[in-house]
Amino acid sequence: MAELVIAAVPSIEKIRFVNSGTEAVMSAIRLARGFTGQETIIMFEGCYHGHCDATLASNGHQSSSGIPDGAKAATVLAKFNDLQSVEALLNQHKGKVAGIIVEPVAGSMGVITPVPGFLEGLRALADRFGVLLIIDEVLTGFRVAFGGAQNYYNAKADITCFGKALGGGMPIGAYGGSKEIMNRLQPDGDVYQAGTFSGNPVTMAGGIATLTLLKDPAVYQTLEDRTAQLFAGLGKVIAKNNWPIQLPRLGSMFSIVFAEKPVLNFQDSLTIDCKAFSKFFHFVLDNGIYLPPSAVDAACLSSVHTVEEIEETIEIMSKKVF
Ligand SMILES: Cc1ncc(COP(=O)(O)O)c(C=O)c1O
Repeated sequence: MAELVIAAVPSIEKIRFVNSGTEAVMSAIRLARGFTGQETIIMFEGCYHGHCDATLASNGHQSSSGIPDGAKAATVLAKFNDLQSVEALLNQHKGKVAGIIVEPVAGSMGVITPVPGFLEGLRALADRFGVLLIIDEVLTGFRVAFGGAQNYYNAKADITCFGKALGGGMPIGAYGGSKEIMNRLQPDGDVYQAGTFSGNPVTMAGGIATLTLLKDPAVYQTLEDRTAQLFAGLGKVIAKNNWPIQLPRLGSMFSIVFAEKPVLNFQDSLTIDCKAFSKFFHFVLDNGIYLPPSAVDAACLSSVHTVEEIEETIEIMSKKVF
């Protein structure tokens, strides 16, 4: 399984398997801190990286009680798609930042693709300030492309996190990077991470089967064709009726966003009409189409969805119900 991932992702020379996306992110953050000897993590407002203290700490829309002040103080928030906000934080916290963590395609404020230059700019800023770039591919990994969004956008992470799709539905997470960084993990190095069920044979078998199937480029072409079909049909109805709906997507990862204008960051996502989405969600559910139940979550098509099912979906979604 490790060989399959390493062969697919140029930035990964060594990888560790864990049991969930949260565990991958939590471990990656500890590794970044151990490697750099610094504490502060820069993340993006509205991005979701699981339920570890570091990434829930100060994230306005998803915060939680029970998080120590120390954890809150060690996470600072930049704006997605806004390199200036990242540079300002790197200057403000100079010498204290361990890493920047980002979803290459944000999936929890509607799907938001990176504006041209955003991921490249993060790479350049991380290099200039001597901090690590952690790319969280828990949603995008092996879904938007073989090897993940990094391969699609030609972006290079210091540490990459995976989850979900990597294991074909089995409980999985993984994080990996260069040997230099990964060798800081115990037993070779001084950063601890372990887990009873990490790399368990059943999950690894699920992962190997999944990646072996995904090696066939025809799977991604099918996913692209079906999602394009859905969006072409829906797009026509939306344009004809002038409905306030945006249709962002990358490959098979998409959102039906009830907003007047394209959403590029967390502030924009506050304009999403959740009540309208809720009505729409229940109407389509009653008609056999199961979308994620939140107005801001990413939806994903599967390679087994057929052309006929997509046609039917367009027809049902085209009835005004919001
Ligand atoms: C980008 C991202 N990172 C991390 C996580 C956490 O993964 P898990 O739910 O497996 O802990 C999620 C879950 O949705 C996610 O979307």
